Amino acid sequence: MSHVFHAPIAIFSGAGCRQQLPECVASLGLRTVLIVTDAFLVRTDVIQPFLDRLREHGIRAEVFADVQPDPTDTNVAAGVAAYLAAEAQGIVAIGGGSPIDTAKVISASIANPGPLERFQGYHRIALAGPPVIVIPTTAGTGSEATKVAVITDNVRQVKMMMLDAKLMPRIAMVDYELSLSMPPALTAHVGVDTLTHGLEAYVSRKANALTDPLAQSTIRLTARNLRTAWSDPSNREAREAMAVAALHGGMAFTNSGLCLVHGMSRPLGAVFHLAHGLSNAILLPTVTRFSISGNPARYAAVARLMDLATPAHSDEEACRALVDGLAQLNRDLKVPTLAECLQHDVSAFRQHLRKMADDALSSGSPANNPRIPTAEQIVELYEEAWAFA
Ligand SMILES: NC(=O)c1ccc[n+]([C@@H]2O[C@H](COP(=O)([O-])OP(=O)(O)OC[C@H]3O[C@@H](n4cnc5c(N)ncnc54)[C@H](O)[C@@H]3O)[C@@H](O)[C@H]2O)c1
Ligand SMILES: [Fe+2]
Repeated sequence: MSHVFHAPIAIFSGAGCRQQLPECVASLGLRTVLIVTDAFLVRTDVIQPFLDRLREHGIRAEVFADVQPDPTDTNVAAGVAAYLAAEAQGIVAIGGGSPIDTAKVISASIANPGPLERFQGYHRIALAGPPVIVIPTTAGTGSEATKVAVITDNVRQVKMMMLDAKLMPRIAMVDYELSLSMPPALTAHVGVDTLTHGLEAYVSRKANALTDPLAQSTIRLTARNLRTAWSDPSNREAREAMAVAALHGGMAFTNSGLCLVHGMSRPLGAVFHLAHGLSNAILLPTVTRFSISGNPARYAAVARLMDLATPAHSDEEACRALVDGLAQLNRDLKVPTLAECLQHDVSAFRQHLRKMADDALSSGSPANNPRIPTAEQIVELYEEAWAFA
C-alpha cells in the first residue's frame, strides 16, 4: 500500500521562534495580513508584541478576534468579512485550535465562496486559499500541522470535520513559551487531546511507516510530561515537551487518520458544548477497552510506550494496564466524569444518543478504528462512558 505525507513547508520550533514572524510573512511576499485570534488572547499581552514587530517591519496587520472556543460557521463568516475589509493577502492564526481552525476555513472560503457545509468530509475544497501562518498557544491540538479543521454548524448542531490538503498551514511556528500561561484544566484537556492523537494515529488502520515514529513520540512525550506540565505550569522542560508532542501528534494523525474516540467526541461536544479535549478524555478509557480486540499488539505497544507495562508483560496484561492507566491519568488530572459534566441529567443525555451515534459514524473516523462499531454499539459505548467513574 502507498501513502502520502502532508506537512507545512516550514516548521519553526523552540523558545522565542515567534520573534521571526515578520521574516516569515515577508518570505511569503505578504504586505498585509489578518491576525485571527480570540477575545481572551487579545486582552492579555500576547497579541500586541506581534503587532509591534510586524509594524516595525512595514507589514500592515488587522486583528480579528471574534472566535469562540469550538468555533462556528458564524465566526468564519465574520472572519471572511474582516479579511476582505482589511484587503489582506494572508492570515496569521495565533491561539489554540479554535482560532487556527477558523483561520484555515476563512482562507478556504476566500477562494471558494458559498455555504461551509460543502467543505464537510474528505477532499471537498476545490481551490487553495491565501497562505496561513500558525502560531499555537495551547499544546495542543496539533492543528498547526494538520489538514483538518472542525467548525460547528449552529443550525444542525454538528461539528463539521473538514479534511483537505488545502487546509494545511503554510508555516507553523511552535514556541512553547506561549503555552506557559495555560491554567491546569486547559493543560489537562488539550494534553489528553494530544495523547489521543498519538494513540489513534498509532492504532489507525491507515497508520504507516511515516506516521508511526511521530505517533510513538507523541505517546511517549505526553506520558512523561503531561502530569508535570499540569502540576507545575512554569516547568519549561515539560511545556516544551508537550508542545513538541502536540506537533508530532498533529503530523501523525493528519496523515494516518483519527479513530473512534474522535468520532464519538465531536457529537458529544457539539450537543453538550463540552470542550474538545475534555470530551476526548472522558471517552478515551471506555473506547480503548472496546477497541483493543481489533489490534491487541498495537495497544500493548502503547502501554509500553507509556511505561505502563514492560516487554516482560504479555500483550493481554499490557492492554489491561493501558485501560487502567488512561483512567488513572484522568483522575490524576482531575478530569470530571461525563455525569458530572452534564449535571447528572441522564435523561437529557439519552435523548441525544441515537443522533450522536449516527453523526459519529458519518464523520468517517470510526472506519479507521481497529474494531469498527455499529451505531448500536456506539450508543452502548456512550452509556458505558456515562457509567465510567
Ligand atoms: N484541526 C485540527 O487538526 C484539530 C485537532 C484537534 C482539535 N481541534 C479543534 O480545536 C479546538 C480546541 O482548541 P484548543 O483545545 O486548543 O482550545 P481553544 O482554542 O478553544 O482555546 C480554549 C481557551 O483557552 C484559551 N487559551 C488559549 N491559549 C491560552 C494560553 N496560552 N493561556 C491561557 N489561555 C489560553 C483561549 O482563549 C480559550 O478561551 C476545537 O474546536 C477542536 O475541534 C482541531
Ligand atoms: Fe483532537
